[in-house]
Amino acid sequence: MKLFVSEGNPHCLKVLAVLELTGVKCAIQHVIHDEKVVSYLNRPSLPALLLPSGMPLFSANAICRYLGESVGLQCSDLSNQWLEWEATELQPALAQGLHLAVLQGKGPEACRVLQGPLTYLEQSLSKTRTSFLTDDIVSVADVVLWAALYPILSDISLLSGEQTKVQNWFERVGLLAACKSAAQSVLQGKGLNAEVLKTYLQKQPAPPQRRDIQPCNSPEQGTEGDHVITEDEIQSAAATWAKGLAETPLVTDRQHPILPQEGKRNILVTSALPYVNNVPHLGNIIGCVLSADVYSRYGRLRGWNVLYVCGTDEYGTATENKAREEGLTPQQICDKYHSVHADIYRWFQVDFDFFGRTTTEKQTQIAQNIFWRLHERGFLLEDTVEQLRCEACKRFLADRFVEGTCPFCSYPEARGDQCDKCGRLINAVELREPKCKVCSQTPVVRSSKHLFLDLPKLEVELEQWLEMSMGSGDWTANAKQITRSWLRDGLKPRCITRDLKWGTPVPHPNFSDKVFYVWFDAPIGYLSITANYTDQWEKWWKNPEQVELYNFMAKDNVPFHSVVFPCSLLGAQDNYTLVNHLVATEYLNYEDTKFSKSRGVGVFGDMAKDTGIPSDVWRFYLLYLRPEGQDSAFSWADMAIKNNSELLNNLGNFINRAGMFVSKFFENCVPVMDLQPEDKRLLAQVGWELKQYINLMDKVKLRDALKCILNISRHGNQYIQVNEPWKKIKGSETDRRRAGTVTGVSVNVACLLSVTLLPYMPTVSQTIRQQLNAPPTVTATFLQGTGSFVCALPAGHHIGTVSPLFQKLETDQIEALKKRFGGQQAKAAIRPAQTSATQTVVNGVDTKELTLAVAEQGEKVRTLKAQKAEKAAITAEVTKLLELKKQLALAEGKSPEPVPMKGTNAHPTPSPAPAVQAVVSKADPERAKELTLAVTEQGEKVRTLKAQKAEKAAVTAEVAKLLELKKQLALAEGKSPEPVPMKGTKK
Ligand code: 2FM
Ligand code: ZN
Repeated sequence: MKLFVSEGNPHCLKVLAVLELTGVKCAIQHVIHDEKVVSYLNRPSLPALLLPSGMPLFSANAICRYLGESVGLQCSDLSNQWLEWEATELQPALAQGLHLAVLQGKGPEACRVLQGPLTYLEQSLSKTRTSFLTDDIVSVADVVLWAALYPILSDISLLSGEQTKVQNWFERVGLLAACKSAAQSVLQGKGLNAEVLKTYLQKQPAPPQRRDIQPCNSPEQGTEGDHVITEDEIQSAAATWAKGLAETPLVTDRQHPILPQEGKRNILVTSALPYVNNVPHLGNIIGCVLSADVYSRYGRLRGWNVLYVCGTDEYGTATENKAREEGLTPQQICDKYHSVHADIYRWFQVDFDFFGRTTTEKQTQIAQNIFWRLHERGFLLEDTVEQLRCEACKRFLADRFVEGTCPFCSYPEARGDQCDKCGRLINAVELREPKCKVCSQTPVVRSSKHLFLDLPKLEVELEQWLEMSMGSGDWTANAKQITRSWLRDGLKPRCITRDLKWGTPVPHPNFSDKVFYVWFDAPIGYLSITANYTDQWEKWWKNPEQVELYNFMAKDNVPFHSVVFPCSLLGAQDNYTLVNHLVATEYLNYEDTKFSKSRGVGVFGDMAKDTGIPSDVWRFYLLYLRPEGQDSAFSWADMAIKNNSELLNNLGNFINRAGMFVSKFFENCVPVMDLQPEDKRLLAQVGWELKQYINLMDKVKLRDALKCILNISRHGNQYIQVNEPWKKIKGSETDRRRAGTVTGVSVNVACLLSVTLLPYMPTVSQTIRQQLNAPPTVTATFLQGTGSFVCALPAGHHIGTVSPLFQKLETDQIEALKKRFGGQQAKAAIRPAQTSATQTVVNGVDTKELTLAVAEQGEKVRTLKAQKAEKAAITAEVTKLLELKKQLALAEGKSPEPVPMKGTNAHPTPSPAPAVQAVVSKADPERAKELTLAVTEQGEKVRTLKAQKAEKAAVTAEVAKLLELKKQLALAEGKSPEPVPMKGTKK
């Protein structure tokens, strides 16, 4: 066995302490934080334990449990519960707390965040009479919790004096030699001050936006989300709800041309103009057009006056080369690819107000006008530049089109800008034996006069303006940082002309054979594209008093938008609108590599539609992954997981259930709602998430805001699950009324979801609104002001026809896509935990995979239980676990333990089936009535699952229940039942 650990990582502290405690023999290998030990995981995951079978374990708690078990230290139920609590309740708070304390120096805030879990621990320790968490001897759980808390609790200043039990317990566990030496090895015996901890934390994704952690989430009690709802919030949520839809909704219809309006927020949105010469990949799409689209759609819902413009960036060497490659003229290339881009964005439902291009007459006029104004005001400089020119090709060679011997290390294939061998930057004219990359001829050195934008002369004015813009606007951290680093180095004059044909002509007579450099020209495209949309374009672009400008882009575009272009506009002195909010993403990778057209790796915009996955689902997943704050990676396996868990099981399931209850139980008519305290509590929870959503959206945190939507439907699912309207509908009059209230509230939450979803998934949003027959004014009501969750579908409202919104992504489908689009490890893409439960595997090779699958599935079940997930979900996973164990036994050549009949095991039976009560031996008409209803409902459930293409195991479990119910019904009716097939036997 081999254990991989890294310094500074508190999870490694856990496993090292347990390893030493148990005395298990195992090699330890220290690696760096981002070392990928487990090849099929997307992210580096440390610690990892390589089992004797060759299979890895990569969750610290699972490793600890395994180590314990291998020396006979079985985890008791209580011990397991603590481990689950640690993973699901303590860890999220710790991630935030450590981030705040170590990286931001905010000790007191860290304390607040950790207050809840620590209080819970304190209370639990007060109740128990044992010296440790579960017993009088130390358990794996004690060591795991101790290690997790070590960085925080070893800093006395962070402990509130009240937590004496925690303190005593922490000291007791810390006395163990195993703990001491592990702390020394991982954190240099220091707590928060260990440099290695800081380095580790810096490499971790930023924890989700700070929320107040629920003070007491016990392993026994259910959790109700992590915001503590106050009584005031509950009352005010109920009052808001009662207001209903606003009578005078905001007008959201667009009339073109959209122009700034007095008294409105006038928002001008641009996304970086994509180069015309290539097809955009998913990373390009999420970085620019899709992000700007979501924000524009949201702004329109908010009632702001939004104009969103974009278009293709068409000039430059790259276009000339592409034209040569394809045997077309540059104009033909632009025409061809402009429409390729437009088609792709249309498919992705990017709702531009205008999608133009840079090769237009307006571009020439505006760019030349800015040029002359800069010239007249003395902001342009002339200088001579030495360049390589290929006489055979009759053109000057851009750095990328020349190759030669490196003047530093003599590497023969150095590029014109850099040597790949020694890494040094090269000036193309210094290359020895230079060659034109197109025709291999030797170019000559020619000197040529060029024009430069005098950035140093504009620097002071730029800095003043930047300070204001960054201070008041929403600039992403990377945008600020990149801009500041440019300024720190001092600005230098930048060449704005090129010896090319394909570009906007420089109007100066001394430079008549030159064009503008693309990076001078392209941003002017924003203006000219708007001018092609409306003659009144200056109302947007020369109107900083009335207009707020949002620029969306990937981080490599930042300096041109924050330094160079603003200087052009400032120097032109024409009251131009300058950027107020600069929103830059990091990069999106593809699986564990980069997108590459030439290597055929990755999904490009034109291919997405051929996958059969709907545009809305693509949008959802890309926005879920949006590289906000750090790079992220597209992964097919993860896409399937997010689709199947978040869209299908969470969002789709909730909305479908809410609608189905209205249609099945109340004949499509929203029932009377008589709000009880727990309904009002839900309103408050949902209202709180809605406020978070609006705060985050206003700040362009699109990925985080999406999580609020998913939280709302999670609350909704839990609410339905707890209140069981499908049972109450069969009960007394009071029960039926209760079912009505729960149904009515739920369908209203579904309606709210349809609106918050609109910016992300426009088609799904519209489908939901159609299904619910929502009045058109809903879109304008929920998102006014700070957000108000009102009752939009009052009692008596008739809904339309409800049907499932999402489809399952199957493993084989995803495997096939992954193969088709390149990327590595096609085979390992889908984790073994997703192995189809009905598959029969009986060869030795698969036992390894199965062992891991069993371990992982066990983990999954434990997590679900700890999270108090829905019973049905747990049962489905337990079924899979049993099935996997059986397969493993078979594959190992053992005879499997009998798999309990569905519904007959110790696990709670999912509602609504009163499936396995004592078998009735004689006719019982009352029971038969009940069972008839249960059979109908269960049949409904199976049909829904099948329609939703739910996981096979889940469907099988429900079918088993259905058969069981039918059997009981037959008995209750005094008939002899049809035989129920054994699980696993084919019909
Ligand atoms: O990086 C790019 O794709 C550039 N075509 C972006 C230009 S943005 C703006 F300046 F037009
Ligand atoms: Zn040449």
